[in-house]
Amino acid sequence: MGRFLAGVAVLSVVLAGSIGHAQMKVANLDDYRKAMQAIGGAVGGANKALQGGMMADAKKALAAAKPNLMGVEAFFTARSKPELVAMAKTAIEKVDALDKALGGTDSAAAMAAFKEVGATCQACHAKARDQDPNTKAYSFKPGIL
Ligand code: HEC
Repeated sequence: MGRFLAGVAVLSVVLAGSIGHAQMKVANLDDYRKAMQAIGGAVGGANKALQGGMMADAKKALAAAKPNLMGVEAFFTARSKPELVAMAKTAIEKVDALDKALGGTDSAAAMAAFKEVGATCQACHAKARDQDPNTKAYSFKPGIL
C-alpha cells in the first residue's frame, strides 16, 4: 500500500509538472478568483517551504503560479487593459526568476527573488484590488474592468 501511494504521489508530481506549462483558462470573474486563489496557494506554499530551507519543495509548490498568471494576463489582454497586462507579465517574469533560483542552492538569492515576486503581487493589488471591510471578500476596484 505504501509503495502504491508513493507511486501515486510520483505520478501526480509528474502530471503537475506537465500541467505547469499550460495556461489556465480565465474567462470570467469566477475563474479569475480561482486563479488568484491558486496563485496565492502556490506562492504561500513556496514561501513556507523556502523558510524551512526546502528549495526543491518550494519549487514544486510554486509550479501552479505561472499557468494561472498566464491565464490572468490573457484575461486582461481580452479586456484591452494594457497596464494590467504589463503587471501580469512582470509577475510572470519574477515567478520565472524565482523558479530558477529555487533550482539552485543559494537560499538567500531565492529569498531575494521571492521578495520581488511579492512586490509585483502587491503593486497590482494596490491598483486593482478592493476588499470589503465587513466580509473581507476581495473584488476588483470600481472602474478597473
Ligand atoms: C495584474 C494584477 C494582479 C497581479 C499581478 C496579482 N493579482 Fe492577485 N488579485 C488581483 C485582483 C484584481 C484581485 C481581486 C479579484 C478577486 O479576488 O476575485 C486579486 C485577488 C487575489 C487574492 C484573493 C482571491 C480571493 O478572492 O479569494 C489572492 C490570494 C491573490 N490575489 C494573490 C496574488 C499573488 C500571490 C500574486 C503574485 C504572485 C498576485 N495575486 C498577483 C490582481 C492581481
